Amino acid sequence: MSTPSDQAIDHKAKNISWHTASIDRNAIATQRGHKSAILWFTGLSGSGKSTLANAVNAKLFEIGISSYVLDGDNVRHGLCKDLGFSDQDRAENIRRIGEVAKLFLDSGVVILTAFVSPFRSDRDRARALVADSDFLEIHCAAELKDCEARDPKGLYAKARTGQIKEFTGISSPYEEPISPEIKLNTGSKKLEECVEIVIKKLIQFNVIPDKP
Ligand code: ADX
Repeated sequence: MSTPSDQAIDHKAKNISWHTASIDRNAIATQRGHKSAILWFTGLSGSGKSTLANAVNAKLFEIGISSYVLDGDNVRHGLCKDLGFSDQDRAENIRRIGEVAKLFLDSGVVILTAFVSPFRSDRDRARALVADSDFLEIHCAAELKDCEARDPKGLYAKARTGQIKEFTGISSPYEEPISPEIKLNTGSKKLEECVEIVIKKLIQFNVIPDKP
């Protein structure tokens, strides 16, 4: 399915050609001693996506891996500040992030994206931009009741009283991943345990070496 913005791009962009970089991903991986990959964290607001992505990022930094976190709330302050939370705007938000993540992949970095990304079709479209082995979907599967009990930003309370419309889990759906590479119950599992599981998976997938 093409989004309205895909169609707009098809019509607007003429007379452009792809410039192939002289330093490619493989050369960067050889020099740095690790590959690049997209770690796509998805889950309800308050499920701990940003916390986990940042903790994994800190661990990667500690062991000398180049990485970067793209966070939903942060990206919506700039690149995506023209977008709201309608289904269509979320699709465009995730489309842009998928494209940015793909560029980061080319730069040799392990890129961690922390977005609610509630729709399966949007996540699948992001996955389809890269090779299957480059994309690890990580479901932060804290239950709604736990996210709502935490309510770190007070948004669930506002959503319940109708002050926020189209709030994921309350008045807008969340479509769980069917076969994510990693599923973590971030509602009950300790943060350090979750970080360890993600790091082990990166070793298993040959993204980072066993003993960097
Ligand atoms: S997404 O659905 O397009 O992937 P994104 O991850 O960028 O969402 O932004 C979600 C963040 O915006 C949440 O963590 C929350 O802080 C805030 N937010 C504000 N309004 C909503 C809403 N209606 N639904 C979900 N999150 C919202």
